[in-house]
Amino acid sequence: MKIAFIGGGVMGEAMLSAILDKGLSSPQAISVSDIDETRRQHLEQKYGVAVTSDNRQAINRGDVVVLAIKPQNLAGVMAELNGQLKSAQLVLSIIAGARINTLCLGLNHNCVVRAMPNTPAQIGEGISVWTATAEVTEQQKGWAGSVLGAMGKEIYVDDEKYIDMATAVSGSGPAYIFLFVESLVEAAVHIGLPRDMAQELVLQTLLGSGHFLQKSGKEPLELRRMVTSPGGTTAEALLQLEKGKFTELVKQAVEAAYDKTKRLGE
Ligand SMILES: NC(=O)c1ccc[n+]([C@@H]2O[C@H](COP(=O)([O-])OP(=O)(O)OC[C@H]3O[C@@H](n4cnc5c(N)ncnc54)[C@H](OP(=O)(O)O)[C@@H]3O)[C@@H](O)[C@H]2O)c1
Repeated sequence: MKIAFIGGGVMGEAMLSAILDKGLSSPQAISVSDIDETRRQHLEQKYGVAVTSDNRQAINRGDVVVLAIKPQNLAGVMAELNGQLKSAQLVLSIIAGARINTLCLGLNHNCVVRAMPNTPAQIGEGISVWTATAEVTEQQKGWAGSVLGAMGKEIYVDDEKYIDMATAVSGSGPAYIFLFVESLVEAAVHIGLPRDMAQELVLQTLLGSGHFLQKSGKEPLELRRMVTSPGGTTAEALLQLEKGKFTELVKQAVEAAYDKTKRLGE
């Protein structure tokens, strides 16, 4: 599979690296276009792929054209690529908020997959939600699924609205988790634990709890009750979290991210 990347930043590199790791393509079959010369040099040296600053030149070499630029650069790139794509080329966009309709109109091209990965993709532990236009063939869906699957899990959805929702949950989700980790480490230091020990305790608690949740097959509520003895220490902590409206706050945060994603797409 020949792949052209428009944008070789953090997510572009995560995808490129996963594709090569999983042997889905070879460095000779990959070209990356990026306006940043440092990024081009880095990708060329590290992965041996062809690099260019010319987006039109890059797409010549792709069965799949991955759009991995920031939303604010999309209009310029679409103007540049409008009418340049062959109908059999698959465009795979990971741009937050960029609607399929916007991409099809802006590129004058109807064979489009829109996906939302997340940053753990950089270590093959991401999750992507994706959808495709009617023009995308089964073979191309297979390509999209395997490219996204190379970065972790992938979930195909029929309805594009789920991509905006996933953006607010799994796309932004790592930031929510990291904020919680930071807060727990700070709280641990505050009560007197050495910082390195606090970090180790929190990280392993996060990993262990995630795996426990996954492997036990139990609901989070049930697992939470298992550690919450009546009148005990955990109950005391959870009471404080709820006094601070923790559950409601998470709901509001996700709603705000969802609204913002929808506004990005307008
Ligand atoms: N990071 C995430 O968690 C995440 C998750 C899911 C999806 N996404 C989406 O993934 C996309 C890429 O994000 P990222 O974090 O990888 O961004 P990034 O690191 O900024 O990468 C984008 C790259 O594209 C380059 N670029 C800008 N304009 C260009 C143009 N006209 N032609 C070619 N290259 C151009 C940028 O160069 P300059 O730096 O010089 O501008 C940069 O090297 C975004 O649309 C984002 O919404 C990100």
